[in-house]
Parts: sequence; structure tokens; C-alpha cells
Amino acid sequence: TRTLRLGIAGLGTVGVGVVKIIRRQAALLEARTGARIEISAVSARDANKDRGVNLSGYAWETDPVALATRDDVDVFVELMGGSEGAAKDATEAALAAGKDVVTANKALLAIHGQALADQAEAADRVIRYEAAVAGGIPVIKSLTEGLAGNEITRVMGVMNGTCNYILTNMEAKGLGYNALFDECAELGYLEADPNLDVGGIDAAHKLAILSSIAFGTKPNFDGIEIEGIQRITLEDIHQAADMGYRIKLLGVAQRTARGLEQRMQPCLVPATSPLGQLEGGTNMVVIEGDAVDQIVLRGPGAGEGPTASAVLGDICDLARGLRIPTFGQPAAMLEEAKPAQTGLP
Ligand code: NDP
Ligand code: HSE
Repeated sequence: TRTLRLGIAGLGTVGVGVVKIIRRQAALLEARTGARIEISAVSARDANKDRGVNLSGYAWETDPVALATRDDVDVFVELMGGSEGAAKDATEAALAAGKDVVTANKALLAIHGQALADQAEAADRVIRYEAAVAGGIPVIKSLTEGLAGNEITRVMGVMNGTCNYILTNMEAKGLGYNALFDECAELGYLEADPNLDVGGIDAAHKLAILSSIAFGTKPNFDGIEIEGIQRITLEDIHQAADMGYRIKLLGVAQRTARGLEQRMQPCLVPATSPLGQLEGGTNMVVIEGDAVDQIVLRGPGAGEGPTASAVLGDICDLARGLRIPTFGQPAAMLEEAKPAQTGLP
């Protein structure tokens, strides 16, 4: 039996979730992939924290770069977060050392995805990142694999669990921002900097990644017009409800005659529509293609189990030997995105 040896950097909500699944489902994973999936080493900042999972069989590295380049690591699993610093350094080091990479880090890919994809392909390595967009929903696989025969015309949806949780529970519980923030922290939804969540930036990182795959363009986060939910009040939400609407942080990416349009902004949607009925941390992604017409993917967009589920999907792909280019086509073929100005104030 082949063995796939992992080095996992980051043992927070997602990292611990991944370790738990690997420990719990070893036999199932081996049966499904034909390979034994083993953890060689792990890394986090605090070596003494009780993380609620047994880590005693794994080597400990304080430095993620040292972890990423170990001889007994085949796949570097980056679950630290952040577009700069340790996550970027260790990912680059892993690729340079001939490792494949699995990451949940949308900020890293939205901003440095093109350079990382170039580096990965030059080294004949792959980067997988299913968990980076819409948590447990297999949207990356849907776009790169299941829908590969389509010319994609539009991708849209609700892609941030924190914002959806806050917006739905402001209405349902009548609670303010702060109390709901605490609930999101408890559920493991928040980014290390929650301004990324409520500012629409996290969802925009995800949209930049989806656009790139959908339209064959280099990720263009700077071309997204972004407005967060910070200015939405309880009164706005009640007024919308009185008219039969809900407010959702909605992302839309589409090709238009004026260029690539990418927007992330609070929108009114009919309360009875599938988008209007999304509760809590649930995400929904709608994809339209010339052959398939429209598909709708819905599921948990954040939290330990759903996100770890997506990370394991990628690890299993690598264990099976599946090697798909980062943005679904060779990085050198991606076109420069030509953003359309939509005039959002
Ligand atoms: P957490 O904050 O819970 O965990 C981050 C982990 O990374 C911690 O274990 C931390 O160590 C470790 N870490 C941070 N910086 C360093 C560093 N410089 N060197 C070594 N270790 C470091 O984050 P999450 O698990 O929530 O998120 C991880 C990634 O997954 C992020 O990219 C996030 O955007 C993404 N993601 C998260 C989802 C979620 O629902 N939580 C969903 C989808 C994606 P220590 O514990 O010692 O502080
Ligand atoms: N902070 C993110 C969210 C995590 O709330 O959706 C999932 O990417």
C-alpha cells in the first residue's frame, strides 16, 4: 500500500478538524484512495495548548517552513491563514521542496494565486484548495471537474458564513452585532481578523478565486467592487422584511460586453427565494454554463467539520493521484482580467 505523508501547519478550528477525521476514518480513507494517509508532523504557535485531540504520534515543528520542507512530508497542508507571512513563506518553501500543497487559505490564493500556480506548475506540483471557497460545499471541484465542458457565463452567491449568520440572526433573535460576533467565534466561523468577514473582503477573496476558474482569468481581487455589511442596521433588516425581502451579502461575477464584472455587496433578495431562505452559516453558490444551464450548490460554509471535510476531499484527490492545475487550466494560459466599472458608490 502506498503512503501519503502529511505535514499540517495550523491546529485551530480547521487543523484540529482535519486531524480528527484522519484519526477517525483511517480505514475508510485507505479503502477509498488505495493509499494510507498519515500525519508525519504538525505545527502551530503554541506547543503547550490543549487542542482536544491526541497529537502525541506526530513530530512537532514550531517553524512552518521547517515543517513544509521535511523529508517525511509529501503534502504540505496549510491551515494557518493570512495572505502574507508564515502561510505564504511556507507554501512557497513547500513547492520549492517538491511538495504538493493543500490549503484553506482564500486570502493567499486571491492575492498570490497566480504566482503560486506558476511556481507549482514549474515544479510539476499541485495546489488544492477546496476548503477556501464556501467551506463544505465542493464548488471548486464542481467548476474544475464536473463543469469542465461548459463555458461559464455567471457565478454568484452567498459565500461568507459569518455575514449570513449575523444578518439572519439580527432578524431572528433581534440581537446586535457584538452578541452575534461572539456566537460566530464560538462556532469557529470568524477569520483571525473578523473585519475581513463583515467588510466583505473574505467573500471577495472567494469570488476572485471562482472568477479565475470560471472565466480563465488571472485572479483579480483588486477589480472587485466591495461593500460589507457594517452599515446594515436592524431597522434596514425589518424594513426589508416588511416588503418581503431579506438582505444578503451577495457576490456576482460575470462576463459582460464591458469586461469582467465582479461585485460583492449587500443585496435585497425575495424572502421566499432559495437565497432568501439561507439561514445561519449556510452558503449558496449558483453557477451558470452554456451547456448545463444553471446549478445551485448549498451547504455549510464554515466551521470545523464542513471545512475539514473539504480539506480531506483534496487530500484524497492527491492520494488517488489526481492532478488538476490550480485554476483549472495551465497558469500560463490564464488571461489578464479586464474589469468592468459598475459604478458602485
Ligand atoms: P484558527 O485561528 O482557528 O487557527 C489558526 C492556526 O494557525 C492556529 O493553530 C495557530 O497556532 C496557527 N498559526 C497561525 N499563525 C502561525 C504561525 N505564524 N506559525 C505557526 N502557526 C501559526 O484559524 P482557522 O482554523 O479558522 O482557519 C485556518 C484557515 O482556514 C484560514 O486560512 C481560514 O481563512 C481558512 N478557513 C477557515 C474556515 C473556518 O470556518 N474556520 C472555513 C474555510 C477556510 P496557535 O493555535 O498556536 O495560535
Ligand atoms: N470566515 C469565513 C466565513 C470562514 O465566515 O465564511 C469560511 O471561509
